[in-house]
Amino acid sequence: MESLFRLIVLTVVIVCASAYIPRFLRGRPKGGFLGAPALDHLNKEELVAVHNDLPDAQFFIQKLDHFDTQDTRTWKQRFFQSCATKSKVLFVMIGGEGTANPIWNVQGTWIEYAKNYGAVCLQLEHRYYGDSHPTLDTSLENIQYLSSEQALYDLATFIHAKKTEFGAEKVIIFGGSYPGSLAAWFRIKFPYLVDGAVSTSAPLLAQVNFKGYLEVVQNSLDTFKASGGSCNDAITAANVAIQNLLTTQAGRSQLKAMFRLCDDIDVNEKNDIANLFSTLAGNFEGVVQYNKDNRAFEGGAGTNITIDTVCGIMTNKALGDELHRYAQVNSLMLKTYSQNCTEFKYSKMIASLRDVAWSSEAAEGGRQWTYQTCTEFGWYQSSDSEAQPFKHTFPIDFWTQQCQDIFNIKFNSSFIARAVAHTNDGYGARNYTQDRVVFVNGDIDPWHYLGITKSLPQAQAILIPGTAHCANMYPAAEDDPAALVQARKTVGQLIAQWLQ
Ligand SMILES: *[C@@H]1O[C@H](CO)[C@@H](O)[C@H](O)[C@H]1NC(C)=O
Ligand SMILES: *[C@@H]1O[C@H](CO)[C@@H](O)[C@H](O)[C@H]1NC(C)=O
Ligand SMILES: *[C@@H]1O[C@H](CO)[C@@H](O)[C@H](O)[C@H]1NC(C)=O
Ligand SMILES: *[C@@H]1O[C@H](CO)[C@@H](O)[C@H](O)[C@H]1NC(C)=O
Repeated sequence: MESLFRLIVLTVVIVCASAYIPRFLRGRPKGGFLGAPALDHLNKEELVAVHNDLPDAQFFIQKLDHFDTQDTRTWKQRFFQSCATKSKVLFVMIGGEGTANPIWNVQGTWIEYAKNYGAVCLQLEHRYYGDSHPTLDTSLENIQYLSSEQALYDLATFIHAKKTEFGAEKVIIFGGSYPGSLAAWFRIKFPYLVDGAVSTSAPLLAQVNFKGYLEVVQNSLDTFKASGGSCNDAITAANVAIQNLLTTQAGRSQLKAMFRLCDDIDVNEKNDIANLFSTLAGNFEGVVQYNKDNRAFEGGAGTNITIDTVCGIMTNKALGDELHRYAQVNSLMLKTYSQNCTEFKYSKMIASLRDVAWSSEAAEGGRQWTYQTCTEFGWYQSSDSEAQPFKHTFPIDFWTQQCQDIFNIKFNSSFIARAVAHTNDGYGARNYTQDRVVFVNGDIDPWHYLGITKSLPQAQAILIPGTAHCANMYPAAEDDPAALVQARKTVGQLIAQWLQ
């Protein structure tokens, strides 16, 4: 019995150790787009108070399939309640592509807004993420109930029930990143259930080939000014050097050592090569997307690595040529995220993402989010634009192919294109006609490229210069730029109007 137990434990350990899900996958860092708010501005007593205040998980009985009235199967959706025990005003934080973190029930800008109205704060976890498991696993047959449309219905059912329970008269919803899109879409589909929506860093245009992502990365890296020259030029030079080294065996060995690769490079494996380039670009994408925000990235690591850090390295001639500097950025990332080597084997990544068990590393969200990109949104950050520094090393086909390799042969590029068109038809993309919504974006953040950044006749948009993904949702910090402070204030004034 004991040896069987040990065998099971050992097997689990081996499986975990060999899983390879990129740290930054399809624009999504581990944990989801919205990291936990940073608490380093708090003193010890305040920290203890925050942790003592965290609400317990509660569960809401939810339908599995909202679009089949004959299907009566249900599951338990997790949510957290805080701020007040009763109120006529409900604030709802929409969960997204990661585990709902109860720290958001006690910290963050929406909590400050809630205090003005004595609102009840509810955070609803998204189906298939965190502990909200509608099915026994995430096999293709079971994961078919994962969609934004089902999620919006979950939200409607939940809000309807909570309004009744509390006798509430007003509801304001909040969301950042993909949940920001859900907030805007919820106002379209269920206007009678909600009095206002704060939609932050929300991509509203679904798009297969999101090549604009790296264009914004280039623009954001260009904000770095130093005597050592252009950060983007140095990145391009490094990528050219890698392309040259790949052509010889000696060069490949050199790359393996410099970039501390976990495996040998097989130059015939085109997907490995694309994955290598994309992984190294990911070192910069993640930094740009979350530059200088007040999040605790993956439990605190990496918050102090900014555009200034990585571009400081890229333009520092004392560190050797551009290739060596590029390798140094990679080493910094490995160290920061406690990885001993750089994974890039395509087959290993695909095998990890094919794991359907809730206990797998893929179930952290990488598999589910990939499924949503294949069946609804696309949003593949290819290197297909001319206006970006990473050369043409991870084209769109590299991304769409993954849908077939991970899920099903039928998820080919025409399938994805139809799915994306369906999403835009269903929600109207940027042709947004609903009112009582505010769109907030940061212009450093690549995702603003797909959002609404200019005010519409009936809905205001705020584009904050110099801030990154979801910056306005995090707790305020002393060194926040004036435009960010003003954005939080403007959103607060709109909420006040909606609650009149
Ligand atoms: C970031 O902070 C960690 C821990 O405080 C420190 O060890 C590291 O040197 C810092 N990195 C940078 C680039 O400032
Ligand atoms: C990283 O660790 C794995 C096992 O934990 C080991 O097999 C591999 O050789 C290590 N790689 C490097 C570059 O140290
Ligand atoms: C995708 O698959 C469908 C059949 O499922 C096929 O008709 C179509 O030609 C394929 N498209 C591409 C681009 O391969
Ligand atoms: C939405 O607007 C875009 C242009 O921004 C246009 O191409 C598209 O056809 C519009 N969609 C609908 C459903 O009106």
